[in-house]
Amino acid sequence: MHLERRSLLLGTAMAGGLAGGQETEKVTTAVIGTGNRGSYLLSGVIEQPNTKVAAVCDIKPDRLDRAASAAAKDNPTTYSDWRKVIERKDIQAVFIATPPHLHAEMAIAALKAGKHVYCEKPIGMTAAQVRDLVKAGRSAKAVFVPGQQLRSLRQLGEAIRKIREGAIGEVLWVKAQRHATADLPHDGSSGDWYFDVTKSGGYLIEQSVHNLDICNWVIGAHPLRACGFGGIQFYKNQPPGRTIYDCGSITYEYPNGVKMSFTQMVFHPRTLPAGGQYIYVYGSKGAVDLFPAATLHPMERGAQPSLLAEKQEEPRHAHITAFYDAVTKGSPLPADLTIGATAALTAILGHEAMVKESVVKWSDLGVEL
Ligand SMILES: NC(=O)c1ccc[n+]([C@@H]2O[C@H](COP(=O)([O-])OP(=O)(O)OC[C@H]3O[C@@H](n4cnc5c(N)ncnc54)[C@H](O)[C@@H]3O)[C@@H](O)[C@H]2O)c1
Repeated sequence: MHLERRSLLLGTAMAGGLAGGQETEKVTTAVIGTGNRGSYLLSGVIEQPNTKVAAVCDIKPDRLDRAASAAAKDNPTTYSDWRKVIERKDIQAVFIATPPHLHAEMAIAALKAGKHVYCEKPIGMTAAQVRDLVKAGRSAKAVFVPGQQLRSLRQLGEAIRKIREGAIGEVLWVKAQRHATADLPHDGSSGDWYFDVTKSGGYLIEQSVHNLDICNWVIGAHPLRACGFGGIQFYKNQPPGRTIYDCGSITYEYPNGVKMSFTQMVFHPRTLPAGGQYIYVYGSKGAVDLFPAATLHPMERGAQPSLLAEKQEEPRHAHITAFYDAVTKGSPLPADLTIGATAALTAILGHEAMVKESVVKWSDLGVEL
C-alpha cells in the first residue's frame, strides 16, 4: 500500500527505477534561480536524505557556478535556459526561486510536464497569473508547495490553532505591520529586479505576502475587499527609475465585519519603538501578540499576559522536508496551492487598492479558489 501510494506520487520515472536499488529511490531535483533564496533552498535540498540535485539553472554564470559547486557531490548539469530543465524527463521535482514575474510561467510549465513544484512566494504577481497557475495545479497529479515557509513554524501553528479554537473568543480585528529600517540594498542580490514593480510586484506582493498569509490563517478566511493608499515618500527615484512604493497603509475587510489594518514601510528608524513586524489579533476576550511572540493578553483588568504556545524546536528546513514528505509519503502539506494563491491574491488586492486609490473587491480579481 505504502509503495503504491509512493509510486503514484513519484510518477513513472521513479516507479520504474525502484529495482535499481537505493540510488533510484532519491527524488531527482532541479533548482531554477540560484541567487540569494535559491542558494538557501539548494542547501535545504542537499540536506535531505532522499534527494539528488540533477540540475541547477540560472542566467547569471557566477551564481550557476556557485550552485554547481555547492551540489558537487551530485554532479548536477548546469543550464541557463530553464525550459531545458523542464524538458528533462528524469527530473521529478523543481524548485523555483527566480524573480516573482517568472514564477507562474515556470511553475505552470513544470506542472504540465508532471514535475512536483516548490515555488517561491508570491506564486503569481498578477491575478491572471495566479488564476492560470491554480488551473494548472488543479489538473496536475503533482505536489505543489508555495514558499510560505512560516506555515511550517510549529509555535505559530499552535498559537493559531488555539485562537481558532476560541482562546480570545471571537476574532474581531487584526493590526499588522511590516516595517523595515531601510530598503533592500539597491546594489544587492535582487537589486536588478526588486525595485521594478513589473518584476517584483512591489513591497506588499513581494515581501508582505508572508505577513498577509498569517493574517488570513488566523482569521480563517480571505478578505472580501480592500482600500488603501501608498506611495514613494522617502526613496524618491532611488534607485533611479524606482517604481515600487516605499510605504503604504491598507485596510482589508473579511467576513463577519472583521477588519485587518496593515502598514508597510522601509524608513522606520532603528531606535523608534514599534518597528519591525508584528501581528496583533484582537478578540472578544483579549488579544494575542501573535508574531513572533505568541503572547496572550486577557481583557480583564489585572490579568497578566501569558505565553499562548510554547517555544518549539523549529528545524531550519522544515518546509522543504515537508515538501519531500508529501512527494514520497503523501504526507499532508503545511501550505498548498490554495494557500499560496490566497496569500498572493490578498497582496494583489491590497496593491491594486493602493494603486487605484479605491475599494477593490476580491470578486473583482476573477479567480475561483
Ligand atoms: N520565502 C522567503 O522567505 C524568501 C526569502 C527571500 C526571497 N524569496 C523569494 O525568492 C525569489 C528570489 O529572490 P532572491 O532574493 O533569491 O533574488 P535573487 O536576485 O538573489 O535571485 C534570483 C535569481 O534568479 C535568476 N534568474 C532571473 N531570471 C532567470 C531566468 N529566466 N532563468 C533562470 N534564472 C533566472 C537571477 O539571475 C538570480 O540569480 C523571489 O521571488 C523572492 O520573493 C523568498
